[in-house]
Amino acid sequence: MTPSPTDTRTSSVSAADFEFLRTFLAQKTAIQIAPGQEYLVESRLDKVARQHGLPDVTAVLGRVRSGNNAVAADVIDAMTTNETSFFRDQHPFDDIVATIIPELLSKLGPSDPLTIWCAASSSGQEPYTLAILLNEHFGDLVRRRRVKIVATDLSPTMVTRTKEGRYSQFEVNRGLPAKHMITYFQQQGRDWIVRNDLREMIDARVLNLLEPWSAIPRCDLVLIRNVLIYFPAEVKHKILARVKDQVLKPHGYLLLGSSETMVGGPQVYQTCKLAKATCYRPL
Ligand SMILES: C[S@@+](CC[C@H](N)C(=O)[O-])C[C@H]1O[C@@H](n2cnc3c(N)ncnc32)[C@H](O)[C@@H]1O
Repeated sequence: MTPSPTDTRTSSVSAADFEFLRTFLAQKTAIQIAPGQEYLVESRLDKVARQHGLPDVTAVLGRVRSGNNAVAADVIDAMTTNETSFFRDQHPFDDIVATIIPELLSKLGPSDPLTIWCAASSSGQEPYTLAILLNEHFGDLVRRRRVKIVATDLSPTMVTRTKEGRYSQFEVNRGLPAKHMITYFQQQGRDWIVRNDLREMIDARVLNLLEPWSAIPRCDLVLIRNVLIYFPAEVKHKILARVKDQVLKPHGYLLLGSSETMVGGPQVYQTCKLAKATCYRPL
């Protein structure tokens, strides 16, 4: 998302509009946009202008300033960066199958559900990766409906996509092994649609990580990958502390993105190095 130093693209977004948007996004979502990203703002908010029949980005931000909630929500949605893929980084998923889920199952009663939260799950490739792996390696658990995967994101557009479970050829080519594509997806035109039983495993909802998490159950496994890296350190640390206090069961596991760490964060987790990835457990 950071522009390269050689980037010469220009934008007509005024300094005052850019500053207003920076503050608005930071307060509402913790998303940070850096000076130099005016062209990004322009390209993303042009779409919002068209959606609302407004002439330009200045008019869009004028509506946000005057308290138009519908336009404000669409601005937030448009400004999210939703980069994701199936089996992203692979290693954590290997450890989830080999170590984390077997260990969690040893702690659960025979009919207790295995509850997983994918926070900031974008268009759903991450929760569907988990659903595929659970089917592949823990089929009995899935058949007995003992798995609950809650997938949340700030962006309503991404949550709708997750519920739909429809992916382009390009998206399935990024990380999804062909054998899983054939087993778990059906081709429809140029797209691939996830199987109904997989879709039914995912409870997809809109949730802003800065707001209350009352709809999130106590979880055995929490994935918050590749989102906190975009937040200021103090916000990231507060969210990690809330995961421990409000969501993670005492025997639970937390996974961050592969370039993210707990360094400088709340001293409420122990770091566990698994065979391929690092995870965190409540102290
Ligand atoms: C880069 S994607 C990461 C997707 C997935 N976790 C992965 O690792 O592939 C980051 C996601 O975080 C979401 N996001 C950004 N700010 C958020 C917030 N305050 N609350 C919840 N989700 C947020 C964005 O909408 C985006 O879909």
